[in-house]
Amino acid sequence: MMADVRCVDVAAGTADRRMFVDDDLFAREVRQIFGRAWLLVGHESQVPDPEDFIQSKMGTDSVIVTRTRQDKIVVLLNSCRHRGMKVCRVDEGKARAFTCPYHGWTYSTDEERVSRPGELAGVPGFDVHYEGRLDKAEWGLKAARVRVYKGTIWATWDEHAPSLEAYLGGMLKWLDSALDHRNGDSGGSTLLVGVQKFRVRCNWKFPATNFVGDASHAVTHNSANMIKLNPSGKDGRRDERASGHAAFGWPDLGHGGLGFLPRPEEEFPRPDTFQQFPAASNYLRDMAREHLRKRAGGIHYQGKGTIFPNMSFHEDQPRTLVVHHPVSATETEMWRYYLIDADAPDEVKDIFRHYYMTYSGPGGMTEQDDIENWESATRQSLGGMGRDLPFNYAQGLGESEPCDLMPGAVWCGRTITEQNQLIWLKRWQEFMEGRSWDQLMHRVEVEDDAAFPLKRHAAGAK
Ligand code: FES
Ligand code: FE
Repeated sequence: MMADVRCVDVAAGTADRRMFVDDDLFAREVRQIFGRAWLLVGHESQVPDPEDFIQSKMGTDSVIVTRTRQDKIVVLLNSCRHRGMKVCRVDEGKARAFTCPYHGWTYSTDEERVSRPGELAGVPGFDVHYEGRLDKAEWGLKAARVRVYKGTIWATWDEHAPSLEAYLGGMLKWLDSALDHRNGDSGGSTLLVGVQKFRVRCNWKFPATNFVGDASHAVTHNSANMIKLNPSGKDGRRDERASGHAAFGWPDLGHGGLGFLPRPEEEFPRPDTFQQFPAASNYLRDMAREHLRKRAGGIHYQGKGTIFPNMSFHEDQPRTLVVHHPVSATETEMWRYYLIDADAPDEVKDIFRHYYMTYSGPGGMTEQDDIENWESATRQSLGGMGRDLPFNYAQGLGESEPCDLMPGAVWCGRTITEQNQLIWLKRWQEFMEGRSWDQLMHRVEVEDDAAFPLKRHAAGAK
């Protein structure tokens, strides 16, 4: 019997805790969300040359991300079609073919040899044991749809999914700022260190909904603030709140972030950013003078957000991407990527590398603070009594209004609101109901659909 997927009450601002611990709901998420949505699988700088590959993940599936001899990036399910064994068991390397260690089936990515990357190219005993009757074209590795966008590599299993750009909607412009810090004027971004991968004993939705816009958890990071561990080297999140920090979310798409109002380029970077590290501070200031003026509309978003379902990013310094890979209902594997302008001076790269390591990731002070919360909240929701009590997301409920600076987005003009978490949860519900893409993209109406609660008598869009 299918688990009851109705967990989110958008009008009341509540969510059933089952969605954070229930194994049946997790099994459905793997197919309905991770089997359909666009997912971040890597960065081009991880596979710079032909035949380079990395192992990555899409939901609970292992995938191979590789650049073929013909210079095409492809994403293949890392599971042999014979009995399912992983055909690639190392994190990264160079290969034009993958041979399964179980019975030796070989899959090639070289289009001079096969008609499509991932096709079955060799089978031991093909002539003798199969008498040449095995249709190799039918038994290749499953390939995902791929889109490379400003260095990032995205994939979906769903051939009917909209384009990545349509899927991201208005959030695309915000993401641009994280991926292409200098608006195409530089050699792009590269990864500063390897990807940090670490397991957390929490449901994957805790980090996803934390990054989408949990502005009120500043208390969590009091100790980091006390030692002034933040870009300004001053009072941490209290600085941000004083300078127009707000939540922006896309109720039709499930994405959202915490940021500053788009601001004129003259105001970026904030004058105090990284002033404790003069080389980094000067670099950011010069970069802003030289390049950000050319940015379309002269605006700059600063902040952090989540792209539904499980990719989050910081696009103010430090610039990082983080993917919350689901492992089970109560375990998540987080992958953190650290971005830097490819042509930044070594001294600046070094400052940011040190800063990233102390701030984010498994050794970073703020990440450790957050992980402690997410693990405890998961554990306490497994209790016999605890699991029956809903979570509350009513902060700022009914106060949101359209924000015409960001098409399709709403905000409520408050620093602290849980509108973004509710927007993300609403999207979770829509995917879990198994809606068609026409319904998910709001091309057709859904009967009795719960509208996102907006301010009743809004004085007009801001
Ligand atoms: Fe891969 Fe048999 S499982 S060849
Ligand atoms: Fe945090």
